[in-house]
Amino acid sequence: MRKKIVAGNWKMNLDYAEGISLFSEIVNMVKDEKKGNQLAVICAPYIHLNSLAKLGGDVVGIGAENCHEKESGAYTGEISAKMIKSVGCGYVIVGHSERRQYFGETDQLLAQKTVAVLQNDLTPIFCIGETLDERNDGSYFEVLKSQLENGIFGLSTQDFSKVVIAYEPVWAIGTGLTASSEQAQEVHAFIRKEISAKYDAAIADNTTILYGGSCNPKNAAELFAQNDIDGGLIGGASLKSRDFVDIVKTFN
Ligand code: G3P
Repeated sequence: MRKKIVAGNWKMNLDYAEGISLFSEIVNMVKDEKKGNQLAVICAPYIHLNSLAKLGGDVVGIGAENCHEKESGAYTGEISAKMIKSVGCGYVIVGHSERRQYFGETDQLLAQKTVAVLQNDLTPIFCIGETLDERNDGSYFEVLKSQLENGIFGLSTQDFSKVVIAYEPVWAIGTGLTASSEQAQEVHAFIRKEISAKYDAAIADNTTILYGGSCNPKNAAELFAQNDIDGGLIGGASLKSRDFVDIVKTFN
C-alpha cells in the first residue's frame, strides 16, 4: 500500500513565534483527524526545524526545504542533511522549482543532494515539473523524463524505493491555476510508467507521488481521488491551519 502524504512547504515565511503558533494549531487539529489512518502529515519550515520536531512528535513530521550536498565544510549559510537529521527531521524537499529557478540547481546537483539525504536516513521529496512554455509546446513529458533520469534514476533499486516524488507544474505554483485532475493524473501515471520501465512494476506501484501547485481545500479531494496521486505538497494553503487541515481531512 503506497504511503499517503500531505506535506506543507512553508517556504520563506513565518518568524519563530508565528511558526510555533501555526504548528501548534496544526498538531492539535491533526491529532483528532489522524485516528487510525495511515496518512503522513509533514510540515517543512526553515528556522523552526528543531523546535517543531519536538512539538510534532508522532503526529506531524518535520522536513527541511533544502540541504547542501556535502556532509560538512566551508559552505557559509548552508545546512547539511546530517544537521537536519540531528534535529529530529525525517524529510528533505530536494529540487523544488524555486531552487532550480532562483539558485540554478541542476539535475546533477540534485542527484548529489538526494544521495546525501538518503545517506543520512532521511526521506527525499524529489520535485519535478515543467514550465508553462514546456506545457504549451507539448515537451513536458520529455522534460519530466529528463529530470527523473538525471535526478533519481541513477539510484539503486533499494535507494530509489525510499524516494517520494512531487510533481509540481511550475505554472501552477503560487498562481491559483491548479492543474486539472486529468492533467495531474496523466503526468502521475506517466511518472509511474517511467519508474516501472527503469526499475520494475512493484517499485513503481509502491512509489508515493505527490501533486503540488495551488492545491487547496476546494480541489484536494478531486486531485487525491485520482489513482496515481498519493497526496500533496502544499504551499500557500499550508500557512493557514484550517486550510491545511481541511486538505488533510480529504483523506478521511
Ligand atoms: O512546494 C509546494 C509549492 O510549490 C506549491 O505552492 O502555493 O501553489 O500551493 P502553492
